[in-house]
Amino acid sequence: MRAALLHNIGDETVEIVDDIEIGTLGPTDVRVEIKSTGVCHSDLHGMKGDLPQGAPFVPGHEGAGVVAEVGEAVTQVAVGDHVVVAWSPPCGKCTQCVDLKSPHLCIMIQFAIAGVPKFTRGDEQIFGFAGTGTWAEQLVLPQEACIKIDDDVPFEIASLIGCGVTTGVGAAINTAKVTPGSTCVVFGCGGVGISVIQGCRVAGAATIVAVDLNDDKLKTALSFGATHSCKPDELDGLKGELTGGAMGFDYAFEAIGLPQTVRAAYNAVRRGGTATIVGAGNMMTTVEFNMFELFFDEKTIKGSYYGSADVRSDFNRLLRLWKAGKLDLEGMITARIGLEGANDAIQHMIKGETIRTVIEL
Ligand code: APR
Ligand code: ZN
Ligand code: ZN
Repeated sequence: MRAALLHNIGDETVEIVDDIEIGTLGPTDVRVEIKSTGVCHSDLHGMKGDLPQGAPFVPGHEGAGVVAEVGEAVTQVAVGDHVVVAWSPPCGKCTQCVDLKSPHLCIMIQFAIAGVPKFTRGDEQIFGFAGTGTWAEQLVLPQEACIKIDDDVPFEIASLIGCGVTTGVGAAINTAKVTPGSTCVVFGCGGVGISVIQGCRVAGAATIVAVDLNDDKLKTALSFGATHSCKPDELDGLKGELTGGAMGFDYAFEAIGLPQTVRAAYNAVRRGGTATIVGAGNMMTTVEFNMFELFFDEKTIKGSYYGSADVRSDFNRLLRLWKAGKLDLEGMITARIGLEGANDAIQHMIKGETIRTVIEL
């Protein structure tokens, strides 16, 4: 079958190959025919080695498709079901899942599937990115990673739910729990940042400032619910105008993955405000805070992993918001391409030109 293949960590391009084979189906596994898959910045983080990932690997973790085959013990989905792929599904049994009620922090399945090759090509063992690898025509996944959705949801819409939308909207409504009437600032207006902006809007924020380097993105952000937008160096001025004498925002979100914008997000919130870090970075990059500000300003810095979402219910909750016209997901698709366009899509993303490119399989 066809798939995109990254040969080595650090390579800048993938090779489109047609001789990859999927792994064998265990009793609780599901074979999914991928129909649509997004190009997310985390794929690039994986290619560059910012995120731990075995190679060679098939990128892609934001996907949707149809169940083509199920193992004999599968109970959660059936052949023909339309599903969204969850790259970090909860096991439903561990301390995080049950006692701590934080299923998004369950590592049982993710760690198990990420460490095992998912595909073969001749004698070569090939991993799937984040234990998935959706830039492929087919994929074998544990049943927990396949979340059933309604048949009438277009696959391109469904695929966005698998990462960017859940990560971004979830950061606003689940992690930060943005309150009605509040003031928010969002750093980065890619697929994740635009989703954060939409999450803030759905939560009823009164002011939402979008920050990006790219002028087109600043314009686009306004159509998704941002009330203002600016370049990073213009934010201090806007903060002064919008938050009563430069007091600072109630909530800031970092949706890029850079130390300087994490620091800027911390600076942008008021004393007692919350900076939520959505962007992914590597283990070697650090951010500095001084000892005085940490206690004096009583700000909260929160990580947000997969939108603090319970994928079992939140994927369909987000789709209900989309069906109700409260999330604009069609508008987030900048381009639709075939698998052969993957390298161009990566380049457009590096230049900050896309919200989401969707690969149709
Ligand atoms: N200041 C402001 N904006 C910036 C800066 C900067 N220094 N650097 C990049 N940007 C903007 C880009 O112009 C682009 O619009 O950030 C945006 C990033 O968007 P994408 O590349 O599309 O990334 P996305 O898929 O949205 O992911 C963002 O969230 O989940 C994580 O791993 C993901 O770290 C990544 C982040
Ligand atoms: Zn668990
Ligand atoms: Zn992603």
